Amino acid sequence: MTHAAIRTICAGCLGLALSITSGVMITQHAEAQEASPEALVNGLNAVFGQHGARASHAKGLCVTGTFTPEATAKSLSKVAQFAGVVPLLGRFSMGGGNPKVPDTARPAPRGLALRFDLGSGNAFDLVMLSTPMFFAKTPEQMLGFLQARFPGPDGKPDPAKIKAFAAANPDTTKQGAWLSGRPIPASYAGANYWGIHAFTLTNAQGAATVVKFKAVPRSGEIGMTDEEAKTKSQDFYSDDLKQRLSAGPVAFDLISIIGESGDPTDDPTAVWPEDARKAIKLGTIALSAIEAHATCDAIVFDPANLVDGIAGPANDAIFAARSPAYAVSLSRRTK
Ligand code: HEM
Repeated sequence: MTHAAIRTICAGCLGLALSITSGVMITQHAEAQEASPEALVNGLNAVFGQHGARASHAKGLCVTGTFTPEATAKSLSKVAQFAGVVPLLGRFSMGGGNPKVPDTARPAPRGLALRFDLGSGNAFDLVMLSTPMFFAKTPEQMLGFLQARFPGPDGKPDPAKIKAFAAANPDTTKQGAWLSGRPIPASYAGANYWGIHAFTLTNAQGAATVVKFKAVPRSGEIGMTDEEAKTKSQDFYSDDLKQRLSAGPVAFDLISIIGESGDPTDDPTAVWPEDARKAIKLGTIALSAIEAHATCDAIVFDPANLVDGIAGPANDAIFAARSPAYAVSLSRRTK
């Protein structure tokens, strides 16, 4: 990792704000700041408050189910979940660190985190978003993005700082623009979820394939307009999911989009041209029951929780920064 890969942040982006949220004081220094795991979680806490829930994706629903592989999946990777049916623990979530964000919010990517239970204490975690891209290429850029949104003395972020950061970092606007241009998901069950990073699958013969994961809802995409969103309650995803599960499992096809020479593997803001890429179905995600929040809250869905046969990207600084930041968030929320 490479939160060791430290760059300095423009002092002008920082200001000398002091924000006091839920009794926790977070100091933002005007001098250069390292995008360490603590600094990233401090940044999330400064924007969203420190409330005892996850620093990001604070609001969510815990679920259980199974993963059933396709016979062809074994040709791509030797991982155990491609050899037979395995139990899944999952969590749908709203992006951002606000535990009270309405389910109708347009700018929040939805999350789907999955833990494939491979037995004997082994697990593989896949933590995805309802967008094909992330909003930052490096941890430093993510920290700058957050710092531009720190509340000022009036408790509100300064729109001029947000605008200036976006102008200087145009790639950070791609995720928001993508979300703005699409219907708002009307159900957790009706969104596509992307793994975003490039993973390398290795089969029993040692052949490696670079892929991106995508979970495609069997129901198709279920969207709503801004007008329809106004008619929904703040927490309607919970009832929606309960209702769907009473009729049977909520299913997704897990597919791998096969990378081609030249497709970037180090930049989570870059999208591969999916329509021009081969896709191979790996199996079926069937989520069948709501689980107590406590089950998901006791663990971290950790992007670095990989098994022999699936490797993360070697040179993607965002991928490397995630696991240590998630550990900081876990330690704060379980204190
Ligand atoms: C450096 C970049 C990132 C940072 C610092 C970061 C930070 C965090 C933190 C602190 C949490 C809460 C962890 C916990 O308390 O369990 C979290 C959760 C989450 N993140 Fe990230 N994240 C980053 C990148 C990403 C990316 C690239 C994706 C998608 C590919 C993503 C998707 C999610 C999802 C879906 C959750 C919720 C997991 C759950 O339901 O428990 N994050 N993130």
